[in-house]
Amino acid sequence: MTDPQATQLNDIISKENQLVLNMLSERGKNIYFPKLGILSQSAQAKGKEINATIGQAMADDGKPMHLEGFDSLTNMSIGDIYPYAPSYGKPELRAKWKEFIYEKNPSLGSHPISLPIATNGLTHAISMAGYMFADEHDEIIMPDLYWENYDLIFDNTYNATIKTFPLFADNQFNIDGFTKALQNAKGTKKILLLNFPNNPTGYTPSPEEIDAIKKAILAEAEAGNTVTVLIDDAYFGLVYKKGIFTESIFTQLANLHERVLAVKIDGPTKEDYVWGFRVGFMTYGIKNGSPKLYETLEAKTAGAVRGNISNISNLSQSLLYTIYQSKEYNSYKQDKYSILESRFAELEQVLNEYGDNQHFTPLPYNSGYFMCIKLHGGLQGEEIRQLLLEKYSTGVIVFGDVIRLAFSAVPKQSIRKMVENIIVACKELAQ
Ligand SMILES: Cc1ncc(COP(=O)(O)O)c(C=O)c1O
Repeated sequence: MTDPQATQLNDIISKENQLVLNMLSERGKNIYFPKLGILSQSAQAKGKEINATIGQAMADDGKPMHLEGFDSLTNMSIGDIYPYAPSYGKPELRAKWKEFIYEKNPSLGSHPISLPIATNGLTHAISMAGYMFADEHDEIIMPDLYWENYDLIFDNTYNATIKTFPLFADNQFNIDGFTKALQNAKGTKKILLLNFPNNPTGYTPSPEEIDAIKKAILAEAEAGNTVTVLIDDAYFGLVYKKGIFTESIFTQLANLHERVLAVKIDGPTKEDYVWGFRVGFMTYGIKNGSPKLYETLEAKTAGAVRGNISNISNLSQSLLYTIYQSKEYNSYKQDKYSILESRFAELEQVLNEYGDNQHFTPLPYNSGYFMCIKLHGGLQGEEIRQLLLEKYSTGVIVFGDVIRLAFSAVPKQSIRKMVENIIVACKELAQ
């Protein structure tokens, strides 16, 4: 049975934009952030002389209990380490991340968006998006080259069905294939997942391609369908070529149509090189999105987080917030970007030199951590991978006849050798 607190949230959504209520999964409709019960009773007891409400151990001085051995490991205040963080995320970090979204995406202008909800990395944000929007047998449309963890999230966890379209046609974003996949998706409630820079290909579309994607989505909305667009911005900001769209596609969708809900999934994991911190965010944008609508979606998402993993590491959020306040943050980040950019440039140069080899062709790439090559002449990726491991001390990832190279993980001086090893291995197996 639906809890009255969920009904209350659904009534608000329905008043603000009935179409958004239709986009929610059954789980999404039923979830709520509990305002009654433990959380509200604890809030009411705050500041009282005796507070026996909190599920944390407090020292006699009222501060969070902790093992003194930790004291020498960090200079953070104990409140920024040991207590639970709110299920929504730490307020100052959420506000900062929202500020970043506007700064990094100038074409968003001043269009209102929700406050980001903190998640346990992007994987968890993607899973929470599945929780909120994907019912059993719903189709999730995405390109055929996608991060394999989407299978575990959408297929295994939510019993949804991944429907793919070929990412490329004539070495460009396959706008016809994309448009047809959207049109042919069953029902009137469409769910789309876009990930640029893409894993595994390292592809980000050009501004013209982004515009064509946007028009295809708008046409669906104008035809009376709803489109929930999950935007996986894991590799945001890592674009290395001119003429490529450098903002998030969220900017183009967050104010597109009242039937298009843009769900931005992003975070510091790859952007700020903090894979182990486990912090990500989920942010909503929709045309005429009111503060009430956004607050309600935030409450539901925070409820899903609470019911799933309770809340995100306080320490990780505090560390991030501290570095974001630092004057040097941008220059630290620029240093790392330059390293990845120089590896990209080296790889591009080496691949151009070997451009006319008959064993493989690079798939389009311009951004992110990876690029892919497609094998020819019946060469099997797995055989090449094994040979590279055994004879050439080189590790790569393969999917069928596609090899993924994580140039993000290879020093510039080893990139030529990596490509040459692949060429020699291909030659050997082609004989
Ligand atoms: C496209 C994409 N999205 C999300 C993630 C996961 O990010 P996180 O480590 O923050 O869960 C990855 C990690 O490889 C990825 O490639």
